Amino acid sequence: MHTPAPAASIPAYLRETYWWAYMHPNAVRLFERQWLVNLILWGNFAKLRDAALDAMGESLPGRTLQVACVYGDFTQRLVARVPEGGTVDVVDVLPIQLANLRRKLPDAAPVTLVERDASDPVPIAGCYDRVVLFFLLHEMPADVRTRTLREAFRAVKPGGKIVIVDYHRPDASHPLRAVMRWILRTFEPYALDLWRHDLAHWLPRSILDREVVKQTYWGGLYQRVVIDA
Ligand SMILES: C[S@@+](CC[C@H](N)C(=O)[O-])C[C@H]1O[C@@H](n2cnc3c(N)ncnc32)[C@H](O)[C@@H]1O
Repeated sequence: MHTPAPAASIPAYLRETYWWAYMHPNAVRLFERQWLVNLILWGNFAKLRDAALDAMGESLPGRTLQVACVYGDFTQRLVARVPEGGTVDVVDVLPIQLANLRRKLPDAAPVTLVERDASDPVPIAGCYDRVVLFFLLHEMPADVRTRTLREAFRAVKPGGKIVIVDYHRPDASHPLRAVMRWILRTFEPYALDLWRHDLAHWLPRSILDREVVKQTYWGGLYQRVVIDA
């Protein structure tokens, strides 16, 4: 099922900065390759994907929200953990990305695709058992990142879980530190924010008393953050 938004307008940062990665049909044709997304993450795609999925759980009953589509097999692997009766909603602001994800999923997958800006107020608060954001926040300007996190926390039930996997400041001795700084500064202008601050910097004030469990990977270049709502 695909639920179109009443009027999802495409955020300026996506149009101006990421048209080449997500919006153009050639972008989808180019990037929708498992080996390429793995190369972009220096061979760490499977490890980071599984780190996100394992933090959510071996079995994912109830309602799961994936905020934004992901190239590669992230959603297929997520859906494989959903038992009978469980459901997954995937929110993305770009119809072309939702259509691409639909092609990757079996017809019977219990997945609803929702065309919506993840930083807009969620239609119903507190209805998901878990919410996952995989390499989304580094692509957002700080104000959009803050609103997206606020809405992710509004979407999850009390007792539910938020799982975030994204870039992180690498160790000072990381051999790719200078290369990654150049790549991110050149192609991903908001990403270095995640080198400067912990993710807690953009979390809603209302959850600052919760435990934020951070684990870093591959010399600190990547992080997983898990927060019990
Ligand atoms: C999850 S992120 C990056 C994932 C990762 N780089 C990959 O391998 O695909 C990319 C997706 O985020 C979506 N996106 C970006 N900003 C959004 C927003 N404000 N609301 C909903 N979706 C958004 C884009 O349309 C795109 O499909």
